[in-house]
This record gives sequence, structure tokens and C-alpha cells, in this order.
Amino acid sequence: MHFTVPDKYRAATLPELSAFVMEAKRRYGRRMIILAHHYQRLEVTEVADFIGDSYELSRVASERNDAEHIVFCGVHFMAESADILSADYQKVYLPNPLAGCPMADMADIDDVLTAWQRLVDLGLAERTLPLSYMNSAAELKAFCGRQGGLICTSSNAKAAFDYVYARADKLFFFPDENLGYNVGRRMGIPDDQIVVWNFRADDGGIDADRLRKARLILWKGHCHVHTNFKPEHVAEVRRRFPGVKVVVHPECVWDVVAAADAVGSTKFIVDYIGAQPPGSIIAVGTEINLINRMAHAHPDKRIFELSGQTCPVCANMYRTTMADLANTVENLDVFDRIVVRDEIKADARLALNRMLEVH
Ligand code: 13P
Ligand code: SF4
Repeated sequence: MHFTVPDKYRAATLPELSAFVMEAKRRYGRRMIILAHHYQRLEVTEVADFIGDSYELSRVASERNDAEHIVFCGVHFMAESADILSADYQKVYLPNPLAGCPMADMADIDDVLTAWQRLVDLGLAERTLPLSYMNSAAELKAFCGRQGGLICTSSNAKAAFDYVYARADKLFFFPDENLGYNVGRRMGIPDDQIVVWNFRADDGGIDADRLRKARLILWKGHCHVHTNFKPEHVAEVRRRFPGVKVVVHPECVWDVVAAADAVGSTKFIVDYIGAQPPGSIIAVGTEINLINRMAHAHPDKRIFELSGQTCPVCANMYRTTMADLANTVENLDVFDRIVVRDEIKADARLALNRMLEVH
């Protein structure tokens, strides 16, 4: 896809861009809402109407029926979900249309259908429900809706697992192996009942007996930002900063999650940091823009990135600049919208509505 920001915005200063956005907000009033994920740049969050984790952002998109224009500062799957959950007269825009999620791209609908067919062939599909992480394409959400499954985010994954196990013996979760494993493990599912479907291998690299025995079938997908955190990083900050609190996102690997003091969605992390007393030392295992914003918002606490080695930036979240946002809000009538195909919309909505119900 070719996408270039017009020179008017490219060459503008941050205060000028902010002024463009604020003027558009004044003009549209409640007819436009700017939503921003917690990983967005500080300046983008400063002009947003609502900042949240992916669950909250979908909820707001489904509730703000008076907003004809939903400007979604996040990544593609989030804007798609907003389009699915909002009414037909509402229009959704992704200010930088190139902002995707590499983890979401690890689960392709054809690969998922191949895995499902294997379960059908082994007579296991009727005892299995699919559960897709929010970080997935709309086709996968529609597949879950059609099969009686649902969607979860990191904030309601446990509730979604409970929903599935109340109705089925097996849970097929994609695309984040780590989130799925972390929830399953905390629920006490033993390792010999958890398998990982490798979409690059024949039959997922799992023999029929193991698949029959499995209660949890995970997908071999991961987030390259969160898997950079290692258990050694947790041990190291504990050694160097006695009394440090470690809080991480559940897309981190199990050994990191198990060693942390707290684990949860981006909203959870923001609330956790806010609840610590002044003088606290907090090492955070998630995306750097959230961490920097928290350090800025809480000068009375020491807040820093957990690894001390890598800069955990989500390049896709970072793609959305103030220039992109100003370009979008000043040109809503011609800016490309995010539109989910009608053929899959209803099924995807079914799965997302189940997600909103099981929080
Ligand atoms: P949250 O749902 O916690 O906001 O996470 C979304 C995400 O993409 C984390 O990498
Ligand atoms: Fe995707 Fe990871 Fe970026 Fe979240 S942080 S949007 S999972 S690449």
C-alpha cells in the first residue's frame, strides 16, 4: 500500500499539528471521537478523547453511537474491531493505514482452517471451541463466531477460557501462544494437556494421540516486543533495586510472568503503577511508549523498562504520528476508511459481542 502524508502536515510543527486536531475536534464536537491505545505516542494520547487497552477501546467504539467518525489511533485489528462493533452509519479511520500487528499476521485464516479440519477429521471438533485473541484479522473473528466461539483480550482472557470450558472439553486459542499458555497454566492445565500447533509443520507437528489428549491447543504465534523480556531481567532488577515491583503484560513468556509481581493488560499496568505509593520503584515489561508516559505522569515514582537492554518499541503503534492524525481529522470526507466486508461482519460481531459479555 502506498501512503504519504501531504506536505502541509509533514512540514508542520507539533504545536501546529495539535492546533489542527483541536480545531477539527471543536468543529465536529461529539460527532467525532479520537481513540488511542496506551502504546501511542505521548502527543497523540494528549489530544485523544479516550485512551485505553484493546478491550476498553472496543467497548467505547460499541457504545459511542453519537460519534459518526471514529478515528482509531492504534493498529489495524483494533480499527477493524471498531468497525465491526459500531453501527453502519459510523465510519472508522486508521490514521496510519500501514499500522498492523505482526503477531496478528501469524494466524492466517487458511492455516487456521487447516488446523480446524484436522480436528474435524479426528472427530474432535464438536468437543472444541475456538477462541481468538483480539490481535487477529476479522476473518478469524468471524470463524470463531460461526463455531460458537469468541474473542478475548488480555484483560478478559481468563473469563473467556471459563466460558469455553463451561461448554467444551478443548479450547483452540490463536494466535498468541504465550498469552494462551499463561492463562492455561494459571488455571492448572498440566503441560501434557497443552499442545502448540506449528502452522509451518505437517499436521501442526502434533501427533493424533497428543491432540486427542490435549485440553488446550495453542497457536505458534508471539509478540516480538514482549518476548524480548527474559526471566534474567527480572532477577537482575530485583538484585539491583531492592523492593522493586515488576509488572508485565501477559504476552511475555511464562518464566517472566511467573517471576513478576503482577501481570495484566495495558490498562491493568497503568492502574497498577498509579496505585503504588510515592517513592516506589517499578520495572515494567511492556511497550516503551506506555512506560515513558507513565514515568512522565508519575514523577514521584521511579518507573523504567524491565530489560535495561532492548528498547521494547512496537514500531506499528509508533507509526501513527501527529501528522497522520491531523491529516485524518482534517480530511475525513476523503480519507480511506477501515471497512470490514459484510459477508464476515455479522459472525465477527457475534464473537466480539460474546467477548464484551464475558468480562
Ligand atoms: P492490551 O489489550 O493489553 O491493550 O494489549 C494489546 C496489545 O497489542 C499488547 O501488545
Ligand atoms: Fe502487536 Fe506486539 Fe505491537 Fe501489541 S505490541 S500491537 S501484539 S506487535
